[in-house]
Amino acid sequence: MTNFLIDFEPVGKRVSVSETTSLLSATQDAGLSLTAVCGGVGICQDCKIRCVSGKLSEIQLIERDAFSPQELQHGWRLACQAYPRSDLIIEIPLESMATEQRLQIEGEIRKVAVQPAVYALDFSLDPPNLQDLRGDWERLVNGIPDKQVLQNNPGLPVINQFSVKMRRSGWAGRVIIGKNQCIVGFLTEGQPFYGVAVDVGTTKLAVFIKDLSTGETIAKDGVMNPQIAFGEDVVSRIASANSNRLSQNALQEKLVDAINRLVGRLIDEKGIVEDQIVDYVVVGNTAMHHFFAGLPVQQLGEAPYVPAVCRSLNFSARDIGLNGAPNARVYMPPNIAGYVGADHIAMLLATDAPSREGVSIALDIGTNTEISLALNGKLISCSCASGPAFEGAHIQDGMRAVPGAIERALFFDGDWHYSTVADKPPVGICGSGILDIVASLYESGQIDASGRFTEHAFRLVNRPKGGAIIMVPGKDSGTGKDILVTRRDIREIQLAKAAIRAGIEALLRATVVDLAEIKKFIVAGAFGTYLHLDSALKIGMFPKLPTDCFLQVGNAAGAGAQEMLLSLASRKAAESILENLTYLELTTDPGFIQSYVESMGFD
Ligand code: FES
Repeated sequence: MTNFLIDFEPVGKRVSVSETTSLLSATQDAGLSLTAVCGGVGICQDCKIRCVSGKLSEIQLIERDAFSPQELQHGWRLACQAYPRSDLIIEIPLESMATEQRLQIEGEIRKVAVQPAVYALDFSLDPPNLQDLRGDWERLVNGIPDKQVLQNNPGLPVINQFSVKMRRSGWAGRVIIGKNQCIVGFLTEGQPFYGVAVDVGTTKLAVFIKDLSTGETIAKDGVMNPQIAFGEDVVSRIASANSNRLSQNALQEKLVDAINRLVGRLIDEKGIVEDQIVDYVVVGNTAMHHFFAGLPVQQLGEAPYVPAVCRSLNFSARDIGLNGAPNARVYMPPNIAGYVGADHIAMLLATDAPSREGVSIALDIGTNTEISLALNGKLISCSCASGPAFEGAHIQDGMRAVPGAIERALFFDGDWHYSTVADKPPVGICGSGILDIVASLYESGQIDASGRFTEHAFRLVNRPKGGAIIMVPGKDSGTGKDILVTRRDIREIQLAKAAIRAGIEALLRATVVDLAEIKKFIVAGAFGTYLHLDSALKIGMFPKLPTDCFLQVGNAAGAGAQEMLLSLASRKAAESILENLTYLELTTDPGFIQSYVESMGFD
């Protein structure tokens, strides 16, 4: 019988199954819970999935009822009716998941004075009559005090909205005015107006809706970045976009559509209408920034990896299909370099790294880890390729932080002790879990300083691709199969942690700063929230500093985006961060490779 490999996205879990295993059973083998109310009979239509690549068994009649011909053409199937006929990449939409991935969207938010980039002006006009035949717009120009605003070309959607709304509201209303005196849209007199801060991560999107008069957070939520179906990391997504223009357009549409849907759901729940959304602040790494704004990404995938633009951007939401008031604004803070984006600027802003006393290091760990060193108001930043191991990828039994992922592990009293996300039976290992396991393996003498298993390794087995330990025996796992940690997994963690440590060392060398001078070590981002500091210190990923130096601040990029939504002064501060920042290209740094090699071991 032929076996095929199936990659489930966005959870990042891989299984090998035979051609007689339905995709629904394959998800169960992978320890994932799909909604399947009818138990696989084919009548509930809950188990919708999309085949991104590979070949499946023939479409069944029942599926022709469930999907339109276009949907079928785009790969939509019922997991209980489809069988693999080749290796596959399968996208599981959020609505088909019985349990969702843990998404860290919160960060510590500083209090800022609410002075947003938009303001409101209430007005009341005389209605037209047979003696007063002025056009609607001219009536407005004569009727409101701030005439300068109306000198600018308002654009057709704004004029359109004005004429329709005035007839409904009895010629009284509220005009929303944005930066450079542009008209954003019209509301009824006194109607509240809102802004949206968006953090576009490679893996997840976080959205925060804020009242722009009070600064209050009205709603927030996070979803997986739907672009994952095009590749786990930015490099594969750039390659996909470069393959043809259609693919780049699809990547942008997916992103904008996901934001529209998420914002749409949140404002529906709060009884807010689209016209009340007047401003967006969007941050992301440089690739996500470019995908979102529809900028070319080809040059990001080729040396010397330069962005299309570094400076901040202001444009109309409708230019890229984002919903809101007719001329809702979008602000994107500056990028630093090809692999250090506006999200890093937002993180530096929110953590106040540039203005802290003494030396601060601030980093956000991801597939690429962006690191900045701040000293006397000046910054130096770099990006190191830490790889996807901390997201569970490239780890044999790795997965993202979904229920059942081992997230904490310690070896003591001769056995492994662990906890899983949502306390579900273990089905795999997420980033914080594998970091703990490697740290514990080293501490308990089961691996040596070079990462090789020693004679003390517990439940060491030989596998075709090398040695492995059985972390969880099949009888205790949620899949019935052993959960392994292989020599290769340990190697992946060594590579990742060496890249981060060598990046830190490069910044210290460039500024002639000694480790002991570091006053604050700020760890941001989702993985940074869940990683266990003691494990990161044990394996040498972070320098051994006093514990009170470390700050784990959560989604600081999202917090920075919220600040910039509420405060023009924060936008200025973000832009001045770029003016005081130098980018260090590690590939040309003479000491980087040596430092990287030296950081690979555990001693
Ligand atoms: Fe009900 Fe597939 S499980 S249709």
